[in-house]
Amino acid sequence: MNLFEAVTRRYSCRDYQNRPVESEKLEEILNAARLAPSARNMQDWRFVVVTDSEKRKALQKAAADQPFVGAAPVVIAACSNTNKRMNLCGQPYSSINVSIALEHIALAATSLELATCWIGSFKPHQVRKILNIPTSIEIVELMTLGYPADKGTSPKRLKLDEIVCYEQWNL
Ligand SMILES: Cc1cc2nc3c(=O)[nH]c(=O)nc-3n(C[C@H](O)[C@H](O)[C@H](O)COP(=O)(O)O)c2cc1C
Repeated sequence: MNLFEAVTRRYSCRDYQNRPVESEKLEEILNAARLAPSARNMQDWRFVVVTDSEKRKALQKAAADQPFVGAAPVVIAACSNTNKRMNLCGQPYSSINVSIALEHIALAATSLELATCWIGSFKPHQVRKILNIPTSIEIVELMTLGYPADKGTSPKRLKLDEIVCYEQWNL
């Protein structure tokens, strides 16, 4: 599958098969995250990969009790080891760097016929406790991963001319 196909086919999967993800595929997907760019190449991302069903159920509770979080065979807690911001633009390194890596994960998973969903609706202090994550580490997002049991959706997107302008702000 080429990149544009993966970009087009990726969707937020909220219904997973009860089938484990092969460790070779998981490693390939995680390697796609490892290769992501990061500001100053700091590679501040750290990932806790959770397959244990008790822990996944606990994560479901920490994630607004969204049932597919507990049902997905893999939940990834995507973390960063920095809480610093970029000097000039003021944006946090953590959310930008980790998000790029996570989208690498989402696209790599799609290309291997797996599916993902970003989970931003979660309580970090609960996730920290469940996974024993030190307080020095930022928990940026969770992501579910597994073989899809649904057909996928294609939510509407804005048109290009609604989101892009050229040479000066004109939106
Ligand atoms: C940062 C972020 C956080 C999200 N958090 C959740 C979430 O907690 N639960 C959920 O079901 N979907 C979540 N989503 C998925 C979005 O709802 C979804 O990406 C959006 O509706 C577009 O649909 P698509 O991903 O299928 O193209 C999140 C997506 C992003 C990028």
